[in-house]
Amino acid sequence: MSWSQIYNDCYQEILKELTRLDGIAVGFNTNVDAIIEFNSTTILELIGKVGLNSLTLFERVLKWKGVIDKPADFVVGLCGCFEKGKASEWLIQNDETYLYLLNNLPVPNSFRLGGQAGIMANILAEFGVQQVIVHSATLSDQLTNLFIKKKNLVIPYYDKKGKLIFINPRKLKVEDQRFYYHIIAEIKKNDTLHFGDTIKWKCPRDNRFIATYDPPNFEMQLMDAFQKDIELIAERVNGFIISGFHMLEQKMLGKTAINEKINSVISLIERAKKQNPTLIVHLELSSTKNEFIMEQLYKISIKGQYWDSIGCNERELIELLKAIGEKKLANDLNKDFQQENVLLGCIKVCEKLNLKRFHLHQFGCYILILNKEYAIDRELHRNSLCFASLAATEKALTGEILQAYNLILEQPSFSEKISKTFRELAKYITASESYIKANFLSNGFAETPDYLICAIPSIIVDKPVFTVGLGDTISSTALAAELALRKRYLKNKK
Ligand code: GLC
Repeated sequence: MSWSQIYNDCYQEILKELTRLDGIAVGFNTNVDAIIEFNSTTILELIGKVGLNSLTLFERVLKWKGVIDKPADFVVGLCGCFEKGKASEWLIQNDETYLYLLNNLPVPNSFRLGGQAGIMANILAEFGVQQVIVHSATLSDQLTNLFIKKKNLVIPYYDKKGKLIFINPRKLKVEDQRFYYHIIAEIKKNDTLHFGDTIKWKCPRDNRFIATYDPPNFEMQLMDAFQKDIELIAERVNGFIISGFHMLEQKMLGKTAINEKINSVISLIERAKKQNPTLIVHLELSSTKNEFIMEQLYKISIKGQYWDSIGCNERELIELLKAIGEKKLANDLNKDFQQENVLLGCIKVCEKLNLKRFHLHQFGCYILILNKEYAIDRELHRNSLCFASLAATEKALTGEILQAYNLILEQPSFSEKISKTFRELAKYITASESYIKANFLSNGFAETPDYLICAIPSIIVDKPVFTVGLGDTISSTALAAELALRKRYLKNKK
């Protein structure tokens, strides 16, 4: 079977199954994204405004500070992402700089619901999962109006009489109207930036740089309903997707408070799992320069099984490997993202964190590693990945889902477009004696004694309308598709 056939066969089937999935809860970071499209002209204007010369800019891009104290730091981060075509998010350290940026950057093209939790909630509800329960630290009208209108998307909230209700966020009217924009600076592949004698950059890939000032999410403030009644939430859902640790702001909180916050989330997970022992908890990583957070997450992870599953991209895999003590592998990957080391890294993560499931959504190829006790049917798992790739492609092409799937699959060249990354992975697996496999290039399956490996060539979109949130789309739809197919599989087996 060709890859285009595999893709073709899975979409309608999974679409139907998703509407039979009981529920998914998503926490914790939800926010408003202000999307600004940058190009070399607007970047040069900004460089002039903040007064950077080409040599200083060049040196500061190399240093890669990772936080924004002053407006010039924003320009440095943006230029670094432009030069390398990489994604990054830096936290703004004070409201003065935040306000300066809001007033001096180009006008946003659009405002969209952001944050892993927000993005995933809208997508899963759009796909018809029966109940999607979302968390949001702030509930201003600007934010809640960005949730889709469907009834299956709800937020748990106490009404005036103190009764827990599940209501679409748009219907809430709260007094506290605080909200903060996350500034999403989108940059385009092949744009060129020339500045002074030192700088001649060509952006290698569509990508984005995010600058965030968001005190409620910096503290990872948790909603009352999630804290007091997590049991009532857990019993309604099959999966609980968690993210937002990357926003914990160390300067503001200090190490002790960060640890307390992580522990309070862990105790929520414990309570949720006690109430619903079959619940699958998925941690979606987000890149952070703060190694302390990753290390704490790791230390806690090995004490018990809190997350069954983790999802991440290339950058986050490197950060995770560092945190779990695989420094050499992390450094090698940092220099050259070779698929051999990528696969070894993914398996190491599963082993060290005792995961049931690990999903790497890299550009051009997704890899899913499944503990054999958890894995049920290899086609089922792989097809969930194809579904996720289609959902992300629709979103990249149109900004929405459920819009363009026919268009994608009807492209005659689709089957020939097997990505370079997938071919590289296939070449390595096929030649290696460490894996049991047959026809990996055409089916994406391999095994070790303990793990099942599923991989797919993902669809590459040449001109995405924007890139923010694509990783969240992939992870959440792959997981939801898997849970839905799993539910049907286990039911049929009875
Ligand atoms: C981060 C950002 C948020 C963005 C999201 C996309 O959480 O803070 O603004 O929407 O990433 O993945």
